[in-house]
Amino acid sequence: MRDLAGRTAFVTGAASGIGFALARAFAAEGMNVMLADIEAPALDAAVGRLAGGAPGIASVVCDVSDSASVSRAAATTAQAFGPIHILCNNAGVAGGSGIEAISPETWRWVVDVNLMGVVHGLAAFLPDMRAHGQGGHIVNTASMAGLQANIGFSPYVATKYAVVGMSEGLAKELAAEGIGVSILCPGFVRTQIAGSARNRPERYGPAVAPAPGSAGARLAAAHAENAEAGLDPADVAARVLAAIRAGELYVFTHPDMRDEVDARFGAIDAAFRRTMG
Ligand SMILES: NC(=O)c1ccc[n+]([C@@H]2O[C@H](COP(=O)([O-])OP(=O)(O)OC[C@H]3O[C@@H](n4cnc5c(N)ncnc54)[C@H](O)[C@@H]3O)[C@@H](O)[C@H]2O)c1
Repeated sequence: MRDLAGRTAFVTGAASGIGFALARAFAAEGMNVMLADIEAPALDAAVGRLAGGAPGIASVVCDVSDSASVSRAAATTAQAFGPIHILCNNAGVAGGSGIEAISPETWRWVVDVNLMGVVHGLAAFLPDMRAHGQGGHIVNTASMAGLQANIGFSPYVATKYAVVGMSEGLAKELAAEGIGVSILCPGFVRTQIAGSARNRPERYGPAVAPAPGSAGARLAAAHAENAEAGLDPADVAARVLAAIRAGELYVFTHPDMRDEVDARFGAIDAAFRRTMG
C-alpha cells in the first residue's frame, strides 16, 4: 500500500511505546488514526500529544484479550472513519521468569494478549477489509523473540513464535486480495514493556515478582535494562511505514541480532543434513 494519506489505521497498544510511535507516524502521513489501548488515562494523554486530538485522531479503550471489546472498537472505528486500511495488532505484554516459576495464570494472560489479541484483531477487522476492496495492510507485532529463543520469558517467546507462524500463513492467504501482511520483529526498544504488569487484568490474579536474587529476578532486571537502552520507537515506526509501502513481510530493526537467528537456522539445517545420511 503506497498511498497512505486520507486512509485509516487502527493501532492497538497505541498509548505507549511502539504503538504510539506508529500512531504518530501514520498521523504525520495524513492518515486517520484510531488509537486503541487498555490503559485509559495513558490513551487520553497519547491522543493529547498527537496535535491535541486533530479531527483525524480518535481513541477507543479496548482490551485485545476480549473479542467483544475488539469488535466494539472495530465498530467505533468504522463509525468514525469508514473503511479501515491498516490494522496494527501491536498490543503486547512481557511476563515470565525462570520456567518453573511461571504460573498458569501468567501463561494465560500473555497468550490472551499477545496471541489471542492478534486473532481477535483479525476476526474484527479482516472481513470488512476484504469486503471494501480498497486494499489494506496488516502489521502484526512479533519480536526477535519470535525467531530465536533465549532463556526465560517462555510465554512471551511462545506467543511471538505463534504470531510469526500465523502471519506467514496469513500473508499467503491474503496475497491475491491486495492485502499485505508485515511481521514486525524488533530487538530491544525503549518502551514501557518491562512494566507490563501495570495492565494485567484482575482476572489473571496478581503478578508475582520473582524472588530477589533468583534467576528469574536477574532475567527481569536484564530485560528492563535492555529495553531502557533500546532503539527509539520512532525508528521502529519509520521502518514499518517503509515496509507497508514496499509490501515487505519481515520487518527487522536490529541487524546486530542476525547472528542469533543464523545460529538457529544453522542448527535446523544441520539437523536436516543428519537425516540425509
Ligand atoms: N520494547 C521492546 O523491546 C519490544 C521488542 C520486541 C517486540 N515488542 C513488542 O512491541 C509491542 C508493543 O510493546 P511496547 O514495547 O511498545 O510496550 P509498552 O508497554 O510501551 O506498550 C504496550 C501497550 O500495550 C497496551 N496493552 C497491554 N495490554 C493490553 C490489552 N490487553 N489490550 C490493549 N492494550 C494493551 C499497554 O497499555 C501499552 O500501552 C508488544 O507486542 C511487544 O511484545 C517490544
